[in-house]
Amino acid sequence: MFRQNRMIRVITVLVILSLSLVQMGSATAQPPPKDPNNYVPGLGDLMGALQVQHGKLWFAGNLQNWPLATYAVDAIKEGVADMIVLRPRYKGESIVEMLNLLTAKPLQDLEEAVEGKDSELFIQAYDSLTEGCNVCHRNHDYGFIIIQRPTAPAWTNQRYRP
Ligand code: HEC
Repeated sequence: MFRQNRMIRVITVLVILSLSLVQMGSATAQPPPKDPNNYVPGLGDLMGALQVQHGKLWFAGNLQNWPLATYAVDAIKEGVADMIVLRPRYKGESIVEMLNLLTAKPLQDLEEAVEGKDSELFIQAYDSLTEGCNVCHRNHDYGFIIIQRPTAPAWTNQRYRP
């Protein structure tokens, strides 16, 4: 009888222990393994796509290739919209508000500039979008990722002049 009680106690302790281990495991759980059928690009990947269009936009706008500049502005807008849907949080905190706050107005001005073929407004809005990129990077301890006006096109297999 005594032995049986002891046995039950030992089993109970083991069950509780393993349950709490399972819980601890889930609390410190890493993100689930990547599923090739459900691939969601990371924020850094989405940012890389934004960087490409940000670079192309500069040359298109400066060479007054307004259809191409319109395309790049749209692509940046879509990129930001994708981030809001796919990666709304970064390190546990929402980035949605900051994304909107820092990009909506410059993107609206850029749309106005390309539509009105207004080079002066284009440059002004471009620089304010760029500043928005950097404000957020600084805010997230990525102050070393500094976006600027490009000095030469990264993609030379595409023509930027109209
Ligand atoms: C709301 C905040 C926010 C805004 C606005 C923002 N970024 Fe980022 N960006 C981040 C964060 C956070 C990272 C780091 C992501 C990571 O590495 O997981 C990042 C990383 C990057 C990187 C590094 C990715 C790489 O692969 O090298 C580039 C480039 C970049 N951003 C470009 C831009 C550009 C261009 C803009 C503006 C058009 C912009 N970002 C606007 C938050 C922001």
